Amino acid sequence: MATPSSSKKPLLGVNVDHVATLRQARGVAYPSPVAAALLCEQAGADGITIHLREDRRHIQDSDVYEIAEQLTTRLNLEMAATTEMLAIACEVQPFWVCLVPEKRAELTTEGGLNVVGQTEELTDYISKLHAAGIKVSLFIDPEETQIKAAVTCRADAIELHTGAYAEMGLVSNTDGQHAELERIRQAVSTAQQADSDMLVNAGHGLTRENVNAIAQIEGIYELNIGHALIADAVFVGLEKAVIMMKAAM
Ligand code: PXP
Repeated sequence: MATPSSSKKPLLGVNVDHVATLRQARGVAYPSPVAAALLCEQAGADGITIHLREDRRHIQDSDVYEIAEQLTTRLNLEMAATTEMLAIACEVQPFWVCLVPEKRAELTTEGGLNVVGQTEELTDYISKLHAAGIKVSLFIDPEETQIKAAVTCRADAIELHTGAYAEMGLVSNTDGQHAELERIRQAVSTAQQADSDMLVNAGHGLTRENVNAIAQIEGIYELNIGHALIADAVFVGLEKAVIMMKAAM
């Protein structure tokens, strides 16, 4: 498994869902999220994330299979903990599955997974993914109870939801953003104490402007970034957008 460099910078996982969003808007075959994923890898991305949603609004099943086959880094497949997705994951065998909550009407993943409320079900679901040789991450809010429940479920990693931190920045609430940053820092430390083998990732709403403070938190393994990076790519191209995001971290 790739590890963060000696400078302890986290790895960068690029979410290419929005390339598929653009394709689906026109209902044609381009732009290709598969080609985008390969370009991101060439530019230095450490992994590629895609979210196969129940409603297939962006990434399609064929994208998942093609990306899994062609990547030279690691595929992180985000999905809801459903029977349908379990069957797909077991067939595709991504390096990581990241379990996320999913609501049909949401524009993007709104909150973290309620691990506390479904510990038994998730333990069973995760054990099935483990049996297929897949590592599992749980996308959760930076809360102690959720972190401890993730350890109980035997998750290999958690991904801390940075959405609240990012939103405070968008409304120029500096005190609120500092408080959210502190909450994330505390969550990383809680996770390390609860299970030193469990990796801690983070993501959602991260941009070149707000990523550095998160990247500086010691112990974060990987950041997963999509919207802002693809938005940058509209202006500077995908390769440069990856390079610029890595530099901002
Ligand atoms: N991590 C998870 C679990 C997500 O659901 C998303 C959004 O798809 C991201 C990271 C990336 O968020 P953003 O697109 O805001 O960078």
